[in-house]
Amino acid sequence: MSDWDSRTFRTTMGQFSTGVVIATGMLRGEPAGFAAQSFVSLSLDPPLIALCPGKTSSSWPKLRESGKFCINVLADDQKPVCDIMAKTGIDKFASIAWRAGKTGSPILEGVIAFIDCELEAEHETGDHTIAIGRVVDLAIVQSDKAPLLFFQGRYGSFANLV
Ligand SMILES: Cc1cc2nc3c(=O)[nH]c(=O)nc-3n(C[C@H](O)[C@H](O)[C@H](O)COP(=O)(O)O)c2cc1C
Repeated sequence: MSDWDSRTFRTTMGQFSTGVVIATGMLRGEPAGFAAQSFVSLSLDPPLIALCPGKTSSSWPKLRESGKFCINVLADDQKPVCDIMAKTGIDKFASIAWRAGKTGSPILEGVIAFIDCELEAEHETGDHTIAIGRVVDLAIVQSDKAPLLFFQGRYGSFANLV
């Protein structure tokens, strides 16, 4: 029996700051997407990234079925986009401008960068899965913008770079 609980797990993990991305996809002409922090660069050769969708996500199964998804890196003025994309069961794209990337997955207006992928593999693990994407296209869209950061359950921006 451990001497820590799920709250300790959450708060300890919350000490690790991340950016925020929106994983998007397109299934049968309908855009889908959700907010995530569990994004990481995995391999340069071949070019791979990883994302961890929760098993309760209603959008990930759509991206999985399409076999493609795009990672959109949010800027620090895009918290409202994050708020919409963290909701479930609503029309998330009604008020968000986007264009289709090479895979057809949405690239959201105003993002810092995008990484457009084909689904390479998926590993079942705990209450999330590890989805590995093979990068087919990527670009920096706006290099002068700062990223949206997530730390201790709150959002922020870089105050200064060291
Ligand atoms: C900052 C932030 C980070 C998140 N990170 C993840 C994540 O890494 N993986 C995940 O599955 N959900 C993550 N979520 C939660 C999803 O965005 C949320 O469950 C959403 O409702 C899923 O929508 P869906 O049902 O359309 O998939 C995060 C939410 C926020 C606000």
